[in-house]
Amino acid sequence: MGNCCGSPAEEPASVTPDHFTSEVISQTTSNTTSSGGSNLSRNSRFSASSGDEAFPNGQILAHPSLKIYTFSQLKVATKNFRVDMVLGEGGFGKVYKGWLEEKPSSRSGTGSVIAVKKLNSESLQGVEEWQSEIHFLGRLSHPNLVKLLGYCYEDKELLLVYEFMQKGSLENHLFGRGSAVQPLPMEIRIKIALGAARGLAFLHTSDKKVIYRDFKASNILLDGSYNAKLSDFGLAKLGPSASQSHVTTRVMGTYGYAAPEYMATGHLYVKSDVYGFGVVLAEILTGLRALDPNRPSGRHNLVDWVKPYLADRRKLKSLMDSNLEGKYPAKTVFQVAQLALRCLGPEPKCRPSMKEVVETLEQLKASSERAIEPRAHSSHPLAHRRGQEPLHHRSPLHQRQEKGQANQHSPLAR
Ligand SMILES: Nc1ncnc2c1ncn2[C@@H]1O[C@H](COP(=O)(O)OP(=O)(O)OP(=O)(O)O)[C@@H](O)[C@H]1O
Ligand SMILES: [Mg+2]
Repeated sequence: MGNCCGSPAEEPASVTPDHFTSEVISQTTSNTTSSGGSNLSRNSRFSASSGDEAFPNGQILAHPSLKIYTFSQLKVATKNFRVDMVLGEGGFGKVYKGWLEEKPSSRSGTGSVIAVKKLNSESLQGVEEWQSEIHFLGRLSHPNLVKLLGYCYEDKELLLVYEFMQKGSLENHLFGRGSAVQPLPMEIRIKIALGAARGLAFLHTSDKKVIYRDFKASNILLDGSYNAKLSDFGLAKLGPSASQSHVTTRVMGTYGYAAPEYMATGHLYVKSDVYGFGVVLAEILTGLRALDPNRPSGRHNLVDWVKPYLADRRKLKSLMDSNLEGKYPAKTVFQVAQLALRCLGPEPKCRPSMKEVVETLEQLKASSERAIEPRAHSSHPLAHRRGQEPLHHRSPLHQRQEKGQANQHSPLAR
């Protein structure tokens, strides 16, 4: 890990939502078939089922290529948006699990599980983010980005349809309570961090230099094998290479994760995402939320509180997630903490690039896996559950109610 301080300052990104809104609408309508509701785009190379396999390093499509679903299709898929189909709820609205029959008339039982995000009419985030999601996620294809399959826009109903992520969000696993939530072993936590880092690195190194802007545990979704995929591009922005630099007038994001320079000045950098990544690493180590007003005063903000602990091996031990019961490779964990500290550097230019973060985490993942070999089949929390679903996730809806969490959602007041 080299010290990057002194590298040329990165220019902050331009934030021009209006421009990009009109562009989204024209691209969306011109590149999807609107008749019949569920038709795939005619360009099959861009169909939802292609992508990961053909382009393991990801690609940016020229135009969004998405299915257009009718409201009634999604109503059927989610059993009329039944309350027991709710997977979670965010600032945009509720997310439902759904089942789409391949051919609605047939009774073959073939189809796919989906996740449907339904805009809540009181949502502050609203239409702009719905369009931004289509504009960005509809064009980005990478194994560590969740797949947006399509959308619905009928009367006042705005919905987004995604691939279903079996194990829910990292937030659920780290902070969910109750017997259904089992603590994630450290090597799985590192695997998740690496997947999410790869997703961010793809965005940052792509031609368009996309700034994700809302990196947090609830936006890291997990498939059945704990592969991490980033979701929610409602706040994503094109980076400095694609636009002139100026300052955003409305600071958006999530308290506790947003980088200090962005909070203070509205300047947005690719490295602002790296800061958010450091916050999630701190959450992964400690099992504590980035922001929790229920903690004693002086400890509400995780980073402010734990930063001095990350640099000290012994202090770090006292802060590690107690759910791990001390079962983790101490040396590797200390190196993860060092990486977190670098990501949390106050100066954007001193933070590592996500490419460097990926390289470091690849090494740490290998060492964490080596460390579990001797204890495999015994104390490994997932080992004795072979053949079963190792973990189940709970709806953060319940979790939030239970924990009385303050709403941490955007926009951030300045
Ligand atoms: N594709 C998906 N598959 C499975 N579960 C999902 C999917 N998308 C979202 N969820 C669940 O729904 C929850 C809410 O997601 P949502 O993105 O609406 O809100 P959030 O990330 O908690 O907050 P924010 O609105 O700030 O992004 C997630 O935390 C996750 O548990
Ligand atoms: Mg989200």
